[in-house]
Amino acid sequence: MKKIAIINGANLNLLGKREPHIYGSQTFEEYFSLLQKDFPELQLSYFQSNIEGEIINHLHAIGFSYNGIVLNAGAYTHTSIAIADAIGGITTPVVEVHISNVYARETYRHHSYLSAKCKGVICGFGLESYRLALHFLASKS
Ligand code: DQA
Repeated sequence: MKKIAIINGANLNLLGKREPHIYGSQTFEEYFSLLQKDFPELQLSYFQSNIEGEIINHLHAIGFSYNGIVLNAGAYTHTSIAIADAIGGITTPVVEVHISNVYARETYRHHSYLSAKCKGVICGFGLESYRLALHFLASKS
């Protein structure tokens, strides 16, 4: 069974409560249960941290054995050379996702330090951005 991890970064523990007009009103835990039902062929794990170094440690811990990682680093996307280096240093492919369409928002959200180190980027489809990333990772050999 393919092992795929979903990693959420800063402030994404507040999904459901945080700016629901942008991020929706569903908690990630609720959405994760739906994903587990919809992808029975995948062994899915979920990790969230607001702490940059913990995200890096988790990438190191799983990034040589998992088949894929779906990463929404939150605002660290726009600031973290250290997370970019961690993605570059592991062998597991990483798909960058965003719930909102970052290109329709403030200009400081238009640049990602992570994208160049990732397999691809999906943004703007609400929580369904994660499902689209899983479809790709599930189908890839
Ligand atoms: C986000 C977009 C980021 O700009 C923001 O800082 C987030 C969430 C998204 O999923 O749309 O925290 O990554």
